[in-house]
Amino acid sequence: MTGNTEAVRVLAISGSLRQASSNSALVSAAVHVAPVGVEVSVYGELADVPPFNPDLDTNTAPIGVVRFRAALEACEAILICSPEYAHGVSGVLKNALDWIVTSGELMDKPIALINASGRATLAYASLRETLTTMSGRVIEDASVTIPLEGSRSRRRQHRAGRFFLPIAEGIARRAGSSCTSWCDTIATLLESLRNISVACGYF
Ligand SMILES: Cc1cc2nc3c(=O)[nH]c(=O)nc-3n(C[C@H](O)[C@H](O)[C@H](O)COP(=O)(O)O)c2cc1C
Repeated sequence: MTGNTEAVRVLAISGSLRQASSNSALVSAAVHVAPVGVEVSVYGELADVPPFNPDLDTNTAPIGVVRFRAALEACEAILICSPEYAHGVSGVLKNALDWIVTSGELMDKPIALINASGRATLAYASLRETLTTMSGRVIEDASVTIPLEGSRSRRRQHRAGRFFLPIAEGIARRAGSSCTSWCDTIATLLESLRNISVACGYF
């Protein structure tokens, strides 16, 4: 927790580099819906992390790696949202994680896994295994599936939802069965962020 704001700092990482990425949209939404006491910032530099090479993992590691490690060091919890590619987690995300096996920034850190696809079960199982092996703590109560794939109208609703977030957050707090899908998304994200902050000892 930060000394000044007493907020839980959550670093949100999207495993997709695609401009219109649904995973990146979820990560951005998390910034907007973060409840009081939770500060979400997006790590958007995965493309700057070079291909993992143990020979380069020295005291003078590449700058992209230094920045990634520093961002992880500066947060209390992590939120990861990644696409599944060929039944595995995205290469850019796995590559970045390989760089921190030895430096250990995940050690005991609470992690929320947000799956933007109902179909992507294999990548998430593998990601869990990787993160757990690296001594990260995947928090089950904060790990959810928010299926965004498949429906153009649904994606449109999510885009529209961004403009109504302040209102939608209020509605989402009282989420009932009549909520639109973006309201459900916000409610689910809120719950995930609350649960990750509980895992950090907040609330
Ligand atoms: C090369 C490639 C391989 C993919 N493999 C899988 C897969 O194995 N399982 C799956 O559920 N989706 C797969 N997908 C679909 C993506 O996971 C899906 O489009 C996802 O929404 C992309 O995330 P993004 O919108 O954040 O970029 C694949 C897509 C691509 C381009």
